[in-house]
Amino acid sequence: MFPLRVPLLAVMVSMALCQYYDYDYQPGSMLGPSGPNCNQECDCPVNFPSAMYCDSRKLRFVPIVPTGIKYLYLQNNLIEEIKAGVFDNVTDTLRWLVLDQNQITNAKVAKGTIDKLTSLEKLFFSNNNLTEPIIPPSKALDELKMMNNKLSKFPSGLLSDKENLTYINIQHNELTSESISGAFKGPKKLVSLDVSHNKLKKLPVGIPGTLEILYADYNEIDGVGAGYLSKLPVLQSLRISHNKLVDGGLPAGVFNVTSLVELDLSFNKLQSIPEINEQLENLYLQANEINKFDLGSFCKFIGPINFSRLKHLRLDANNITHNSMPHDSSNCLRQASNIMFE
Ligand SMILES: *[C@@H]1O[C@H](CO)[C@@H](O)[C@H](O)[C@H]1NC(C)=O
Ligand SMILES: *[C@@H]1O[C@H](CO)[C@@H](O)[C@H](O)[C@H]1NC(C)=O
Ligand SMILES: *[C@@H]1O[C@H](CO)[C@@H](O)[C@H](O)[C@H]1NC(C)=O
Ligand SMILES: *[C@@H]1O[C@H](CO)[C@@H](O)[C@H](O)[C@H]1NC(C)=O
Ligand SMILES: *[C@@H]1O[C@H](CO)[C@@H](O)[C@H](O)[C@H]1NC(C)=O
Ligand SMILES: *[C@@H]1O[C@H](CO)[C@@H](O)[C@H](O)[C@H]1NC(C)=O
Repeated sequence: MFPLRVPLLAVMVSMALCQYYDYDYQPGSMLGPSGPNCNQECDCPVNFPSAMYCDSRKLRFVPIVPTGIKYLYLQNNLIEEIKAGVFDNVTDTLRWLVLDQNQITNAKVAKGTIDKLTSLEKLFFSNNNLTEPIIPPSKALDELKMMNNKLSKFPSGLLSDKENLTYINIQHNELTSESISGAFKGPKKLVSLDVSHNKLKKLPVGIPGTLEILYADYNEIDGVGAGYLSKLPVLQSLRISHNKLVDGGLPAGVFNVTSLVELDLSFNKLQSIPEINEQLENLYLQANEINKFDLGSFCKFIGPINFSRLKHLRLDANNITHNSMPHDSSNCLRQASNIMFE
């Protein structure tokens, strides 16, 4: 059932994987001879005839996709254009569309192509020249990757009917906080959102409460709104490294929520350690301007069941040394096996 488990190749897949940066598939050339119903530019393995591999062959356009194809691999070509009609025989059957590493611009995606795909589950469109997201009408979309494009807007409502969308990665674009406000309303099952390497001045708002992972490294965020995390009750991992966070931008207790397991605030401008919850296990604060070790940031109260679950704490590249830790720290930081000061 799972399209990548081609038995013939089980052993070779892991070797092939390291050459390809982000998803798990193997090059078509390793998949044996083509089945009968295949575009001549591409390969469709006989033992896996619903997949068409057209990757890495200097294509300048998307070839016509024959009836029966569900998984289409077009990455690493020179494609600038998607012409009308190429998907006409697969509009309600195509499930995976991989377009990574091409040169596609919005203007050259004809009407009657992606906007007709009603069953698409995965759209991989990274490393292209998109300035706006292109979203298929499919309600079954579960994974969207548009990393390394030139997205400067993400209109509100584009994802409003994507009830199964769980994973969005739009890192390395040119998105601002204004341009994404309202973008993430709708996907009620969203689990993971990566908006790193953009131009955000604050964390994205209006995100479904199902989110477990939020990465916003390398933006221009200088604070986090009071109560921001209480709207994300199952968030486990939050990364805001390489931003402009200052103490004044963090209301008291803003990170003190029980769901968080990992919090990365490294490479910012914090001068004190923010209050965290007892349940947090990994806290990264390296490369800030922290100049005091306040045990109250970790434990307000110490008792048999009241102590910090912190395991890893990084404080290197701050204005603080091991000597700054109070003597009674070990009562609170009972599980901290790894505290780095330098
Ligand atoms: C598309 O479908 C039509 C009608 O079923 C068929 O005649 C044609 O050969 C198909 N084209 C491709 C490329 O599969
Ligand atoms: C796509 O962007 C790259 C890098 O910015 C640029 O070199 C290339 O000319 C662009 N291609 C098109 C078709 O816009
Ligand atoms: C969403 O996913 C569930 C479980 O895989 C599936 O049964 C349902 O049909 C999907 N919804 C849509 C609109 O595809
Ligand atoms: C975090 O919040 C809890 C519950 O409100 C509170 O008891 C605890 O003292 C707070 N922890 C810190 C370090 O402020
Ligand atoms: C002690 O820990 C328990 C469980 O984590 C918590 O419910 C309680 O509020 C804590 N007490 C104090 C005084 O922080
Ligand atoms: C670093 O800490 C020392 C001792 O606490 C203090 O005198 C000094 O001003 C601090 N330097 C900076 C840049 O905060």
